[in-house]
Amino acid sequence: MTDDPGSHAFDELVRRFNSPLLVVTTCDGHERAGCVVGFHGQCSISPPRYSIWLSRANRTYRIAMFAEYVAIHALGLDDRDIAALFGGTTGDDLDKFAYCAWTSGPSGVPLVDRLPNRMIGRPVAFLDDRAADHVCAVIAPERVSLSASRLRPMYLTDANDVEPGHEAEEGAV
Ligand SMILES: Cc1cc2nc3c(=O)[nH]c(=O)nc-3n(C[C@H](O)[C@H](O)[C@H](O)COP(=O)(O)O)c2cc1C
Repeated sequence: MTDDPGSHAFDELVRRFNSPLLVVTTCDGHERAGCVVGFHGQCSISPPRYSIWLSRANRTYRIAMFAEYVAIHALGLDDRDIAALFGGTTGDDLDKFAYCAWTSGPSGVPLVDRLPNRMIGRPVAFLDDRAADHVCAVIAPERVSLSASRLRPMYLTDANDVEPGHEAEEGAV
């Protein structure tokens, strides 16, 4: 099957890449936010950098723009409830942090207790393709923690039933 970008073949190809899912949290000094992120990847080896893409429609994007730190947590297969909370609801309507155990990290960035495989880092650059509905934040990791046991990641195809709290189209420019 071949097709034009933006149509079915593109969506299907990316679905087959099947990226692992993250929960990205942040705090701007006043308010906390966090959402599920499937668009991400390492983007430098030395120095280490990790990129995450945030939808302009999301509250997490609006808070991250002014945050000193973000925390990037790996979701495990057993974390369906956390995925539904952070991916299926929006902080515009609900205080997600009233529904999960968390600890305050540097500059108040919330660390989700159930998700120990994580990095905390500073956003050092943003890439804003004005035509796109997501904005890239490049993160310089400062602290990394790992669980003692092996992570069984949750992948995109494991979360087919989670309806995003905000549709990306809401943030289109
Ligand atoms: C499987 C899945 C993958 C997602 N990937 C992203 C992503 O890469 N970037 C993003 O900003 N939102 C992504 N979302 C959407 C947000 O997690 C969702 O809209 C969330 O409710 C936004 O919450 P907020 O408004 O509190 O930030 C994804 C959602 C799901 C279910």
